[in-house]
Amino acid sequence: MQYKSFIFLLLSIELYVLPGNNAARILCIFQMPAVSHQATFKPISRALSLRGHEVIAVTPHPINDPTLVNLTEIDTSRATYEIILRHGFEFFMSKELPVQSKIPKIFAMYYEFAHVILGNEQFKKIYQEQHFDLIISQIYISPIMFALSAKLNTPIIGVSSMGGWSGTHVAAGNPNPPALYSEMFLHYNGDLTFYERLKSTLYFLWSRFYIYFIAMPKCDAIARKFLGPDLPYLADIERNVSAYFLNINPILYTPRPMVPTVVPLSFMHIQPKKDLPEDIKQEVESSKNGVIYFSLGSNVKSINIPQRVRNLLMEAFSELPYKILWKFENEELPGKPANVIIRKWLPQQDVLAHSNVKVFVSQCGLQSTEEAIDREIPMVGIPFIADQEMNGIRLAKWGVLKYIDYLNTTKEELKNAIIEVAENPIYRENMKKLKKLMQDEPMTGIEKVIWWAEYTIRHKGTRHLRSPTVDIEWYKYFLLDVFGILILGVICLGMLVRMLIKCYIKDKKGKVKKS
Ligand SMILES: *[C@@H]1O[C@H](CO)[C@@H](O)[C@H](O)[C@H]1NC(C)=O
Ligand SMILES: *[C@@H]1O[C@H](CO)[C@@H](O)[C@H](O)[C@H]1NC(C)=O
Ligand SMILES: *[C@@H]1O[C@H](CO)[C@@H](O)[C@H](O)[C@H]1NC(C)=O
Repeated sequence: MQYKSFIFLLLSIELYVLPGNNAARILCIFQMPAVSHQATFKPISRALSLRGHEVIAVTPHPINDPTLVNLTEIDTSRATYEIILRHGFEFFMSKELPVQSKIPKIFAMYYEFAHVILGNEQFKKIYQEQHFDLIISQIYISPIMFALSAKLNTPIIGVSSMGGWSGTHVAAGNPNPPALYSEMFLHYNGDLTFYERLKSTLYFLWSRFYIYFIAMPKCDAIARKFLGPDLPYLADIERNVSAYFLNINPILYTPRPMVPTVVPLSFMHIQPKKDLPEDIKQEVESSKNGVIYFSLGSNVKSINIPQRVRNLLMEAFSELPYKILWKFENEELPGKPANVIIRKWLPQQDVLAHSNVKVFVSQCGLQSTEEAIDREIPMVGIPFIADQEMNGIRLAKWGVLKYIDYLNTTKEELKNAIIEVAENPIYRENMKKLKKLMQDEPMTGIEKVIWWAEYTIRHKGTRHLRSPTVDIEWYKYFLLDVFGILILGVICLGMLVRMLIKCYIKDKKGKVKKS
């Protein structure tokens, strides 16, 4: 932990020194109203403003820190939270729903986000009148905000709090063979069975068709409605994106080939350890056998999980020898066992840092996962939505987590999983190894953000790094023309040989007759 504080100290003095007269104007647009997504983005606008750049951030989670004098924030929380709640994000992303039902629903939600963000009067004045050196925009499937880069004639960087979806990889020029890498909501990776390859391929083809014929034209129409009719087509603008910041640490995700402008970031939101608030500290320290921390994060709320699962959890908890600290989003939890403490909100990173906490029972969201890894707390994973299933499967492979399928789990299974992870030291040892591997990098996430942002500003984009995989037509990429010609050649050769043989035989027959 001393090492961490030292790094932090270094960061605050070295990284944040002023770049002299090189200060730039940077526009950040972070659409998604979700604590976990924004946890990754807040450090970006903070760090860039502390570098001396003038940053304007459009966000549903303003930092509201008056000491950040170079950061101006436009709060979009009211309108965007209304949209995400009305669409029922945590329900339509549920892991048992088919993957092809999710993408259209995410797009539908993002069409509305675009309307309220681009229609925001305060923001309108900014994008209609001001000049910027760089735009950084969240990319979670919808590319609408990339149109601002064409409108303002400014390089743009896409950023995601998780790995990209297949559309992002294709737009960036990353090889995306469905035999090896499935969509993040399909969670197949590395070694696919025949059935998985079939599903991954069909899904890939479907998603390409869906984006090409349905989603992209609609995104383009929305962009034109707000930014003017004479923009280039949005899919072409998307291929001009200067860089992508994606949370795809190759240890946690299957390593994949990537073009140089896709920059992996991780552990963006990890803070130095702080003391717990007094009342929580007392609860945690007064538990003789240790504490189990239970939270389903900010998107899945434990108040909304199926009643059956909630009851099973309470029954299992009541039979455990530990105290359970449960992030529960209501005042009352009917039937709460005596050893369960509920709080509407808990300082998760500091809870996980306490030495008396033994297990993190989690939904396996990426940000929660990173906190568990950084604090070296083994997990019991109960994935519900989005990429959580994939994260859970990967973590179970590293031996740091016991995976629970909430659809068919039992009280016994839950209880045994928690006891196993709490009492068997191998889980914590594996977590320590995993942390060492994941954090052994030449630069931290925030250092990479600053370097790539300023590099893009210095060179007015990254056109010189553009991979030809971005521009090649799909039939050339798959060598369909080459194979077509080769096959045609073989057929012609075959026909020629057949003709020659026929002639030869005729000839012979003729000779035989004559003689
Ligand atoms: C704000 O930006 C100016 C100009 O780049 C810089 O001189 C100043 O130190 C910055 N202030 C803070 C608190 O980052
Ligand atoms: C992409 O960028 C290049 C060079 O910066 C520019 O000439 C071109 O018009 C851009 N294309 C689109 C569709 O924005
Ligand atoms: C739930 O189903 C999965 C596979 O569908 C299986 O591996 C697991 O053992 C089942 N769990 C229980 C508790 O039955």
